[in-house]
Amino acid sequence: MFTVSNQFNLTNSHDCLVIGLFNKPSGLEGVVGEADKLFDGQLTELIKSGDISTRKKEVSKIHTFGKTGARKIYFVGLGHEKEYKFETLRDAFGRLFKTAKKEKWTEAAVLLDTFTSDSVEINDAAHALGEAFPMATYEFAGYKQKSNEPEKHIESLTVYSADGEGDVEAALEVGYVFGKGTNSARTLVNTPGNLLTATDMAGYALKLAEKYEFEAEILEKEEMEKLGMGALLAVNQGSAEPPKMIVLKYQGKEEWNDVIGLVGKGITFDTGGYSIKTKAGIVGMKSDMGGAAAVLGAMEIIGELKPERNVVAVIPSTDNMISGTAFKPDDVITSMSGKTIEVLNTDAEGRLVLADAMTYAKHHGANYLVDIATLTGGVITALGLHTSGALTNNEEFFEQVLEASYESGEPIWRLPLFERDIERVRGSKIADLNNSPGAEGHAIMGGAFVGEFAEGTPWVHLDIAGTATTNKEYDLGPAGATGVMARTLALLVERFETEEDEK
Ligand code: BES
Ligand code: ZN
Ligand code: ZN
Repeated sequence: MFTVSNQFNLTNSHDCLVIGLFNKPSGLEGVVGEADKLFDGQLTELIKSGDISTRKKEVSKIHTFGKTGARKIYFVGLGHEKEYKFETLRDAFGRLFKTAKKEKWTEAAVLLDTFTSDSVEINDAAHALGEAFPMATYEFAGYKQKSNEPEKHIESLTVYSADGEGDVEAALEVGYVFGKGTNSARTLVNTPGNLLTATDMAGYALKLAEKYEFEAEILEKEEMEKLGMGALLAVNQGSAEPPKMIVLKYQGKEEWNDVIGLVGKGITFDTGGYSIKTKAGIVGMKSDMGGAAAVLGAMEIIGELKPERNVVAVIPSTDNMISGTAFKPDDVITSMSGKTIEVLNTDAEGRLVLADAMTYAKHHGANYLVDIATLTGGVITALGLHTSGALTNNEEFFEQVLEASYESGEPIWRLPLFERDIERVRGSKIADLNNSPGAEGHAIMGGAFVGEFAEGTPWVHLDIAGTATTNKEYDLGPAGATGVMARTLALLVERFETEEDEK
């Protein structure tokens, strides 16, 4: 995909040449200074007049009329160098590739050194470029009979970097893998519920397992019954589709220890069950497997990069339907852990399927747990549409998740979890827990319930109900699924350190 070279010359022939431009009072330096001379100082003039913008993330184009080997030069504004950071660059590259897609580029070259500064070194710039490229040009194919003519896309991307410092090629590839894994998660989420059943999701996981040599296990209904997974089974009870408990294991260490469990809610469609959703609220509920998609996207990245870590991915999958056999409010069910649950709201189904999945992840040796779920509308009320909610029972583990999320540009914000919150999910007169303790603090209640099944294992809960999809396009992607947390989870795994490692 990428060709890396240190042989840049303004006479090299390219369709599109891409240069980063800081907002600096001093004159133009380096390659841009040289180009300015070729254009008799007109670049300086165009920057002064604002026709070439140095404002961050703004892309400006000039035609070179044969004065350089490149037919067109694209300047990517980077703003003031002092305020420059990795995230600005990743977004700026996103804008650039959106322009590329619109203009149907097929060939381009990037002067990567012009995108570096004291705060963003060459490897980071390469990662940002590699990641932004697939993400910003992503498109869900859809199902129209008349699909658009096959789109032209960039076939060749030359990346120039002069100093030979760092490993630009490797960083580009790693970024690309992160971007592609995110796109796979997006496609799963964008796929409608009739075309992505639990069985389909299991089939997808098996294909991943085959490609990356993961150990795989798909539990069928009968096995779930034997294991006593009464919570997942209750949610599936009204469905014509069989449930699946999907397990993928990646062993990157010699011993099966320090295992990170990634547990993703895989509700392929959430009607709410008898606590039925409104006709406005039900549309879009194909995305209720966003947690599962993030886990599968992360597993793809992990499979590609093969870090020396151990991971077990667990995805409880079913739809949440209504029928004569469906579970009902007031039902009492028994989870695999043995804990009994009073169902007060069948629309609080995510925490139920996650309950059995958490227990099962522990059964497979998980020593650390992250659950990821489109769990509550409440998290949107609390944090809006750009920030995922988090809860934890372990400060150190949470710090690691927090760091991975910020670096991935997928911000999270921690909500409180106090003893009195936990008491509320334990507040059933006839069972150990209840799945819906009332309207106050929805997002906390959902997470607190799942946390009951961590039973002391270090655990972080991520509620992505507000961030798994977006109705507005953004620098790194179109409207629709965002693939949020695929990158965070993969980076968490890659960087993961136990307390002993740190000593
Ligand atoms: N899948 C929904 C949460 C959701 C809402 C995801 C909006 C994406 C967008 C979840 O199963 C649900 O219905 N949660 C309820 C919980 C309540 C009944 C305790 C909610 O948040 O309203
Ligand atoms: Zn629900
Ligand atoms: Zn749901």
